[in-house]
Amino acid sequence: MKMLTDWTEEHSRRFQKEILTFGHDLESTGLFTDEALIKLLEKHPSEQLDVCSMSENSDPRFPNEFLTGDFRGVPAEVLMDAAKAGRIWINVRKAMNLHSEYREVLDAMYGGLADQVGGKTYNANGGILISSPISQTPYHFDKTETILWHVRGEKRIYIYPLNEKFIADKDYEAIITNDLVDDLPYEAGFDEEAVIIDLKPNQAATWPLNSPHRVDNGSFCVSVTTEYSTRESGIKNANMIANAALRAKFGRTPQYARDGEIKRYMKAGLGIALRKFGYVSNTNELDMVRFKIDPNVKGFVVPTEPFVRTF
Ligand SMILES: [Fe+2]
Repeated sequence: MKMLTDWTEEHSRRFQKEILTFGHDLESTGLFTDEALIKLLEKHPSEQLDVCSMSENSDPRFPNEFLTGDFRGVPAEVLMDAAKAGRIWINVRKAMNLHSEYREVLDAMYGGLADQVGGKTYNANGGILISSPISQTPYHFDKTETILWHVRGEKRIYIYPLNEKFIADKDYEAIITNDLVDDLPYEAGFDEEAVIIDLKPNQAATWPLNSPHRVDNGSFCVSVTTEYSTRESGIKNANMIANAALRAKFGRTPQYARDGEIKRYMKAGLGIALRKFGYVSNTNELDMVRFKIDPNVKGFVVPTEPFVRTF
């Protein structure tokens, strides 16, 4: 199974260093049609499935906050209809890992990359996003190396520069130590400096580690997102934990970009120790369910009294 369709040496040279698009052939596997996705939704474990909608948040710095939905008892084909009609977004987490037919494709995707960029093996996780025409993924960054493999529909991705203006170290530190929300503060003026890519089916995009980005759907969309940790992402995340502690406990103003290799290496040790001894709170806020899917309602979304997710 060959998954990369137009990869060149130029791609290998720029991979993970620059914003990059490349062609793939996920559609030809037949695993992303409505029928195949319905079958997948029927067998996928519910604790690895998120059905989300978007709030109309009043804070302009954090637009389109995710709301968790109750999808229990809703047939898979209704979930698909909801994603096509409503303000709904389905994340089939680890779908590419948990089911053998998808696992085979994930192996071919990363096997193809490994063949091209130097034979190392990747330990990637892959999820499938099924999202409505008006879905928007808010401004955020990913803590590991990410690739967006677009399969069906039209998506516009905005990718922003990797510097203090767009992703301040203190926000990165706050997110990595779980103190705050998951999304980065956003300003409309940021878009002037964004690289904007209109993704077509069978086109993938990737970018330098941690580059902030956001996504607007132009139609009903199906995409695969994959992520994997590298030595670089591990060291940087540990440094951000160390820097968070230095900022909070010792009033320092650390900056990752300013530190040399030796300092980063030492701080990584400190960060790993802090994580081990509980400086990082693993207790994320409780996941509150705020709506349920109802096929009898236009848009499929019915607000509920908030309750803690237990499924
Ligand atoms: Fe992302």
